[in-house]
Amino acid sequence: MDRIRIRGGHRLSGEIPISGAKNAALKLMAASLLSAEPLTLANVPRLADVRAMSELLMSFGVGIQMTLSPQLGEGDTMRLEAKEITSVFASYDMVRKMRASFQVLAPLLARQGQAKVSLPGGCAIGARPVELHLSALTQMGAQVELADGYVIATAPNGLTGAEIVFPFVSVGATETAMMAATLAKGTTRIVNAAREPEITDLGNCLIAMGAEIWGLGSSEITVQGVEKLHGAAYRVMPDRIEAGTYAIAAAIAGGEVELLGASHETIASLLALLTRSGAVVSDTPRGLKIAMNGSRPRPSDVTTAPYPGFPTDLQAQIMALMTVADGTSVIREKIFENRFMHVPELARMGADVRIDGDTATVRGVARLKGAPVMATDLRASVSLVLAGLAAEGETMVGRVYHLDRGFDRLEEKLSRAGADISRVPE
Ligand code: EPZ
Repeated sequence: MDRIRIRGGHRLSGEIPISGAKNAALKLMAASLLSAEPLTLANVPRLADVRAMSELLMSFGVGIQMTLSPQLGEGDTMRLEAKEITSVFASYDMVRKMRASFQVLAPLLARQGQAKVSLPGGCAIGARPVELHLSALTQMGAQVELADGYVIATAPNGLTGAEIVFPFVSVGATETAMMAATLAKGTTRIVNAAREPEITDLGNCLIAMGAEIWGLGSSEITVQGVEKLHGAAYRVMPDRIEAGTYAIAAAIAGGEVELLGASHETIASLLALLTRSGAVVSDTPRGLKIAMNGSRPRPSDVTTAPYPGFPTDLQAQIMALMTVADGTSVIREKIFENRFMHVPELARMGADVRIDGDTATVRGVARLKGAPVMATDLRASVSLVLAGLAAEGETMVGRVYHLDRGFDRLEEKLSRAGADISRVPE
């Protein structure tokens, strides 16, 4: 299996193009199931998870045509046509490999009146149950049964609008309820909805397909069901987690980088923290510029929270930065119960981190040292790459398939900006 080799100590300079957002693209692809007419998505990132979602959709009979862009910064174009859905079955093998596969449940059920989708099971960052998804669908009139590890959902007479009050914020469950509601009879009100920009992106795409949705970006979303959705062309939003990751790369390696296409608003919590840590952040006509000159970053405390709070998907990366800060930082992970798997690996590079439940205390060290490391999820893996940029000597990051799931041509983007990073085939 390939590994990524980083030789640390090089400052970054230049431009890094930000790709389309993985966590938006995967749901937009699933939304193509809601219409018999084609959905054309632009700015699709080139990722293993996008390929996995394509395979799953093709297994339902969706016709997919890809047009690959020769330019790193442009994103690919994908045309998805779910003219006729020939299967409503998503296997354990598919859903286990990529949890976002579970998001096909609502559109299959809404369009076909039935679906059989594997329960995802636990994953490296936590148990991640799906009871909120299922209760939303049940409240909309679906019959939901669990058998042999599968969710079997039926709604032979279609779904009906309902008032769904989530007890806590869930990105996936909000998307499930919103997609199901587009074709339900009557009005659905989703209360305590997640406000993540990827949900707004999905909602805007559904609106382009003829859905009637209000309140996107707020914690109350209203959907008026329509008879059917039509085709549309839609551009995937830029990946705020990728942008945030490269902003942290500039802060940890030093130098000045312009993130092309990045949006300040979607990572405001991170940019405020980077500014407190000593980085200079400025908006440019093409995106954002991050500069970090000279001194070590100042320490900063961080608590992850639903949007607009600090994203859990940037927690591992910000920890990498804090391992070299000039003092002690306290990082609290409030979204997932087991998302500190990067800590023992960062420790192999000389980081000083103590974990107590959901809290990590990070005492900054003057210098990390390169080491062979590996991680269990994609954000943890990229935090090791970031640490490697700042470390003395060579870092080898194993299990590169995690990075390929969620970071579009990472080594190419970083090496163009001056990092010494390459893929080592094995
Ligand atoms: C999405 O996961 C993202 N994945 C995650 O990104 C991200 O970390 C997460 O949102 C939070 O922002 C995709 O979009 C594909 P949740 P999701 O439902 O929808 C609990 C990455 O690295 N919960 O908001 O699964 C759950 O266990 C990934 O790209 C229930 O208990 O997240 C978690 O503790 C990792 N019951 C919390 O809620 C439910 O029915 C928030 O999860 C649903 C969720």
